[in-house]
Amino acid sequence: MKPPFVITVDGPAASGKGTVAGRLAAAYGLPMLDTGLLYRAVGVLAQRGGIDLEDALASAAIARRLTADQLADPDFRTRGAGEAASRVAVHPDVRAALKDLQVAFARQPDGAVLDGRDQGTVICPEAPAKLYVTAAPEVRADRRWKQLTAQGEAVGFAEILDDIRKRDERDGGRAAAPMRPAPDAVLLDTSEMTIEQAADAARRIVEAARARWETS
Ligand code: DC
Repeated sequence: MKPPFVITVDGPAASGKGTVAGRLAAAYGLPMLDTGLLYRAVGVLAQRGGIDLEDALASAAIARRLTADQLADPDFRTRGAGEAASRVAVHPDVRAALKDLQVAFARQPDGAVLDGRDQGTVICPEAPAKLYVTAAPEVRADRRWKQLTAQGEAVGFAEILDDIRKRDERDGGRAAAPMRPAPDAVLLDTSEMTIEQAADAARRIVEAARARWETS
């Protein structure tokens, strides 16, 4: 049987993948899951509970109790939450605890869009459309800095660039489901693109995948 039309959008922090995923979800009328938010929620809830982020068992217990209705908290969008997320995301038990929710989301009969680090490689290796969205670290740092200062966080560009580099290293270097493009993902480098250009390019990539999926 034909798999549902799932679009996976992976890539490093602040590459534009969330925006691209949102545009694709709107264009195809598909539900979208920002999987980074799951890890952010686990990181922040662990910190609130006084749990050491290196503690895999205690972090995994938080992950197992996490429900979708807990995800709207604005604290999960802060710089600290991104860092905490990246730290709890190295634990295989945390990843395992969050897997079922993501797989179930991807199995919706009409399809779905999921963005993250391992959607095309681990969560939905059978997805008919896969993108890996990247951009140069300096460009990503500039975007993240603008976003955070607009949210009222007082932070310098150099600190953000340092965060981005460390996050790339941790997310790409971990043993469990490291950030990387699936062999069949199409790379989209948005360094020199506006949001509109990136969204258009993503749409063209997905259109080609959809045409193949329709005739499969
Ligand atoms: O996409 P984001 O910046 O919100 O993700 C925050 C962190 O969560 C990221 O640095 C690594 C982790 N993450 C992950 O390991 N796997 C995912 N599918 C999504 C996020």
